[in-house]
Amino acid sequence: MELNHTIHFAADKQCRVTIGSWPEVVAPYGLLLRTIAIVDSKVAASCDLYEYFHEVVVIEGGEGVKSIDVARGLWESLVEVGADRHTLLVGVGGGTVTDLVAFVASTFMRGLKFLLLPTTLLGQVDAAIGGKCGVNLGGYKNMVGAFSLPDEVVCDPQWLRTLPEREWRCGMAEIIKTAIVGDAELFELLENSTLEMVMSDDDLLAEIVARSVAVKCRVVNEDFRESGLRRVLNLGHTMAHAIENRTEQYSHGEAVAVGIAYVARMATDRGELSAEDCGRIVNLLERYGLPTSVELDMESLQEAMMHDKKNKNGEIGWVVPRNIGSMI
Ligand SMILES: NC(=O)c1ccc[n+]([C@@H]2O[C@H](COP(=O)([O-])OP(=O)(O)OC[C@H]3O[C@@H](n4cnc5c(N)ncnc54)[C@H](O)[C@@H]3O)[C@@H](O)[C@H]2O)c1
Repeated sequence: MELNHTIHFAADKQCRVTIGSWPEVVAPYGLLLRTIAIVDSKVAASCDLYEYFHEVVVIEGGEGVKSIDVARGLWESLVEVGADRHTLLVGVGGGTVTDLVAFVASTFMRGLKFLLLPTTLLGQVDAAIGGKCGVNLGGYKNMVGAFSLPDEVVCDPQWLRTLPEREWRCGMAEIIKTAIVGDAELFELLENSTLEMVMSDDDLLAEIVARSVAVKCRVVNEDFRESGLRRVLNLGHTMAHAIENRTEQYSHGEAVAVGIAYVARMATDRGELSAEDCGRIVNLLERYGLPTSVELDMESLQEAMMHDKKNKNGEIGWVVPRNIGSMI
């Protein structure tokens, strides 16, 4: 399995994605640039990062951190410590922290260099890869943000050792989504595995992460700004973002799982996905302990969906699977 990928943005900008140990990748940057790591507190508690970076700022991870107020606090701190164009920001945390740090780095002084070290499974297979960053606004997800690539992303499996089981499950939701849209073999591998196996078998985990990263990089390289193909990666997200808007009971990954199951059933009802494939999708989500339905008022969810970024002319846009493993 390929462990290194490159995402191309423009002739002068590309991002290397490495699956492996992060200190070797990051160390050379510290010789040339002032490095400021912005780190999830749960990660900071388990690793002495002062050894690797000139400065370390610790923040609370979680959806609440993706806010303009937190971004503003970080911009102000950067001014206070005299950060300039020779400063490298390094985001170390789950998808919320990497989305935030990428946004702050992309906007401060019109853009600093930055690296992302995702520390959750969801972050390693999805959130940190592909150059989308942003914060939430008024309860709606990712309303303010940008397409902006880091210089490097390093997915180091070592971080995942402290991850609670619920976060492993959330990562599996995005992995299942990736398998549905782009890797039928990965889908079968997941059908023949269990969460316990993924959490304990390093080789299996490496293969699953590498396959997911490969699909994401392939799609992003074809359609960086999401004008076409990249929309397939939003499978399940129309409903997921509405669920996240209406309740805090579900994490992003869990809401995505419900969204995937919902859209699979809808596709089957409309004759666009076979009942067999729909059954396999719902069974796989349940196999990894993920929810496949919620008890929320559909009218209220539809109202939240009216704010989805994929909508066009006031109509809700859905990404619908036609079968398992192909990007339609
Ligand atoms: N930019 C993108 O393309 C993209 C794609 C998918 C998801 N996302 C975003 O990612 C976010 C979800 O990411 P997430 O699931 O990683 O959530 P998260 O960042 O909230 O992390 C989940 C929890 O795990 C903790 N944590 C992080 N690393 C840990 C570690 N190594 N050990 C123990 N605990 C750890 C965090 O503190 C948090 O409590 C959402 O905001 C979603 O919108 C972005």
